[in-house]
Amino acid sequence: MLFNKRPQEIDLNNLPEHIAFIMDGNGRWAKKRGMPRLVGHNAGTETLKRIVKESKKLGIKYITFYAFSTENWKRPTDEVNGLMNILVKYIQSEINEIHSNEIKINILGDINRLPEYARQQVEYALDLTKDNQSMQFNIALNYGSRDEIVMAIKKIAENCVSGALEIDEIDEEMVSSYLYTAGMPDPDLLIRTSGEFRLSNFLLWQVAYTEFKFETIYWPDFNEAALKRSIIEYQNRNRRYGAI
Ligand code: IPE
Ligand code: IPE
Ligand code: MG
Repeated sequence: MLFNKRPQEIDLNNLPEHIAFIMDGNGRWAKKRGMPRLVGHNAGTETLKRIVKESKKLGIKYITFYAFSTENWKRPTDEVNGLMNILVKYIQSEINEIHSNEIKINILGDINRLPEYARQQVEYALDLTKDNQSMQFNIALNYGSRDEIVMAIKKIAENCVSGALEIDEIDEEMVSSYLYTAGMPDPDLLIRTSGEFRLSNFLLWQVAYTEFKFETIYWPDFNEAALKRSIIEYQNRNRRYGAI
């Protein structure tokens, strides 16, 4: 023991301000165990709860989770309905603790397409936590980055046509302000589990200079220790932003 190198610790002065997660692999996690995919989604929700709590404990200011994409509607109705039920159950069971921890929930995506009972639950959570300031917790729900960019372009175009905006006023900062993430810093770190090395239409604009960390484990197996390891790896990266 005496000669062991001390385990590397997180540098609390150099935390990523914003961490985004692509929670992938729930279905395969369940399949590997001979169980229905929804069992995997339930297990993944337990991971979500733990990672939200750990992020708060560490002092991360913004966390974003990809929960349901604009493409996930292509899945069988049973799975889609199951996911909506899990979302509702998650809010019901966690909202009081989230609120008492001063965490603000934001939704990235268009919630109008959600079933009515799910939309109501989401709106309740948004309204309850709207003034909280200790941490921003973004849930990407019916989210697609291209959809988001198209929405932004349409609004900008409308404002140009109506004369509220001059074409020359459009710059990167303005485009950012038309996205669901308006006013938030871009993710510093993006973590995707399950061994897929792609973005799957997630935050295409916002991750221009984000550090990526791909994990081969499935989301239900991701945990606090894996999060800490990812943050330490992030802290050892050299972010150059095009400079030398
Ligand atoms: C991620 O797990 C959760 C959602 C997309 C809702 P998956 O359901 O994509 O699991 P795999 O990738 O099929 O294993
Ligand atoms: C991305 O995972 C969406 C979410 C995690 C919610 P998918 O499982 O839908 O992505 P693909 O289909 O593997 O690209
Ligand atoms: Mg998947």
